[in-house]
Amino acid sequence: MNTILRVIGGAAVLGAAGLAAFVFVPVQRTVAVTDLPADWKAPEGAGEYVMYAGDCMACHTAEGGEPFAGGRAIHSPMGTIWSTNITPDPETGIGGYTLDEFRAAMIDGIRADGAHLYPAMPYENYRLMTEEDIRALYQYFMEDVAPVNNAVEATALSFPFNMRFGIRAWNWLALAHEAGPSAATGDAAFDRGAYLVQGAGHCAACHSPRTTFMAQDGLTESDENYLTGGEVAGWHAPALRGEGSAPHVWAVEEMAAYLSTGRNAHSAANGEMGLVVRDSLQHLTDEDNLAIATYLKAMDGEPGTPTVAEAATTTETMLTEATDLDLGARLYMDNCSACHFVDGKGAAEIFPELANNSIVTAPQIGGLANVILHGAELPSTEHRPMKLKMQGYADRLSDDEVAALMTFLRQAWGNDAPPVAASEIGAFRAPAH
Ligand code: HEC
Ligand code: HEC
Ligand code: HEC
Repeated sequence: MNTILRVIGGAAVLGAAGLAAFVFVPVQRTVAVTDLPADWKAPEGAGEYVMYAGDCMACHTAEGGEPFAGGRAIHSPMGTIWSTNITPDPETGIGGYTLDEFRAAMIDGIRADGAHLYPAMPYENYRLMTEEDIRALYQYFMEDVAPVNNAVEATALSFPFNMRFGIRAWNWLALAHEAGPSAATGDAAFDRGAYLVQGAGHCAACHSPRTTFMAQDGLTESDENYLTGGEVAGWHAPALRGEGSAPHVWAVEEMAAYLSTGRNAHSAANGEMGLVVRDSLQHLTDEDNLAIATYLKAMDGEPGTPTVAEAATTTETMLTEATDLDLGARLYMDNCSACHFVDGKGAAEIFPELANNSIVTAPQIGGLANVILHGAELPSTEHRPMKLKMQGYADRLSDDEVAALMTFLRQAWGNDAPPVAASEIGAFRAPAH
């Protein structure tokens, strides 16, 4: 079903159910998830680390604004939702929040005044965090973050989404899981990886599909659709489990390198994922990124083998029939092969491989179209400070040419994705926000 239909269908049901919920269901805050003593203090630095793992800065900081002072627009199918000020300013921030109120915001999606938060705040995932981490975060925001007086624009969605009580019905479905982390298996790296991916890292917010009600379809590996791929702003967030997925094909160390530096021998992190690396994952310890990689790999059993035979055919055609190539292949030879090479293999950690690359073969073409039209830049990270940049081709290639090039890439070297039509390109000509 397409997104708009889903939203309209969801809206009607939520409107009715929300009204019922408003009448019958009391607002409930979960109190502590464990029995830590009331005067428990997080160790020095612990709260800041959880903040990085949870990527709080990304959403709660406006373009060019003070850290955590809110005002970043989050585009949802229901309209624009503005992130709020979470500095400890008593007037415009969360300075007045008690620990219990803060916990309720994090795991129940309830604001201090009792109103429901929009699920643009990923409390579905944060609900799986430990009490220790929630308290460490609270301590960090109250004691280490400077208060900033900044009143952000109020979120004003159109009817029925402006009725926050409708979210209560939504929460019936989406917050059915108990607060606190999943049961441990006893394998330390796997358990740590699972904890980071499911909870603070909220990977499923982008990498799981959405249900009819726009809830995340899968929060832990026991859910069938968990991490089987989602969509973010026209980009495909690839499947992180199953045949052919990156964790299936990449070595654990290659995955850890992608997470901490945004690049490895196969691919580069672009778009929203580039931001996740820049603002969150690069600040985690190597051990934690290895734990995430271990979990992703182990979740799904034996690794598969990439297709090599067909890859050779494309390369051979380009080399032997160089004068008689179709438009897409010719454009590739002229514009791209200098860096990504005729065999589409690129150069490890410098020019990404385009054979068997999920951005190239994605069902949503936004990622590939954006990179070709507007170029791409890898963030500089602590481990890999050099920025790597690819120029955009918007001025040089027409819609017909971009479509032909994309179609070529999606079917070369063993890639097997549907062709792209010229009429699909126009939508991506304006640079991504
Ligand atoms: C994907 C975006 C996103 C991320 C990541 C995120 N938030 Fe939020 N958060 C929001 C949005 C949007 C709102 C406001 C929702 C609304 O108005 O209903 C919000 C609201 C809140 C509130 C309620 C404040 C108030 O009074 O309105 C708190 C507290 C909060 N976030 C803390 C955090 C912390 C701590 C983290 C990191 C662990 C975090 N958020 C990460 C998007 C995000
Ligand atoms: C805000 C949305 C968002 C979040 C949160 C997010 N991702 Fe991603 N991720 C994406 C998008 C979009 C892509 C595709 C980017 C590209 O191809 O360059 C991606 C790509 C990836 C890839 C590359 C897959 C491939 O086949 O090439 C991996 C691995 C990955 N993400 C892991 C994670 C992990 C682990 C987390 C949680 C710690 C996470 N992501 C959180 C949006 C997100
Ligand atoms: C001057 C060298 C250079 C040329 C020419 C070039 N690229 Fe790139 N390309 C790069 C670099 C460097 C990156 C990594 C930057 C990033 O992904 O953020 C990249 C990234 C990409 C990606 C993203 C891969 C991923 O895993 O995220 C795609 C797709 C891509 N290029 C396709 C093309 C196409 C198609 C052309 C020709 C129209 C082309 N490139 C021309 C250097 C180049």
